[in-house]
Amino acid sequence: MPQESMFSKWRRELLKDAQGKTLEVGIGTGKNIPHYPADVDLTGIDFSEKMISKARNKNSGSAKTELLEMDAEKMIFEDNTFDTVVTSCVFCSVPDPVKGLKEIKRVCKSGGKILMLEHVRSHKKVIGPLMDAFNFIPLNLYGANINRETYQNLLNAGFQPEQIKVENLWFDIVKLIRINNRK
Ligand SMILES: C[S@@+](CC[C@H](N)C(=O)[O-])C[C@H]1O[C@@H](n2cnc3c(N)ncnc32)[C@H](O)[C@@H]1O
Repeated sequence: MPQESMFSKWRRELLKDAQGKTLEVGIGTGKNIPHYPADVDLTGIDFSEKMISKARNKNSGSAKTELLEMDAEKMIFEDNTFDTVVTSCVFCSVPDPVKGLKEIKRVCKSGGKILMLEHVRSHKKVIGPLMDAFNFIPLNLYGANINRETYQNLLNAGFQPEQIKVENLWFDIVKLIRINNRK
């Protein structure tokens, strides 16, 4: 996988389009926090209390940041709460990804943006099956899958192909996914 220095560049690219009331799902230790535009009103969630406490120590570039312990598969927010929803390297590990993506669709406003930086299963002839074969290693070590079919999961969650723009950043494995949420 690429180094964090490359991810930093991609994080900036991802987050420059965040605006208004913004939710970051699976905020982890808060690596994205310094890269948000200053006028974003940020809420970050993670189901790990340990991650949330690490994220609290990160300096925020955004004017307002709230961090909450919460499961992406069962969020407490009202429907249509957020202008932007962000994920980065999260949908490799959400236990039921389609459930989590349906929740994102629900809490994001109609006409809102969903911005995702995710690594997924390659569709190359040899690499894809190898990712399937060796998936058990990162899964057992870090709880992360290397063979998630995130695009298909988005379709299964009810997003339409015309709403989803996908850009390959590193082979066909690391992708920037921009979604125009329509309900
Ligand atoms: C690999 S880390 C990425 C963290 C951060 N987004 C980043 O880019 O550095 C994945 C994070 O997603 C969180 N996560 C996984 N499933 C989740 C869920 N169902 N609800 C909330 N957080 C979840 C994990 O606790 C972890 O902090």
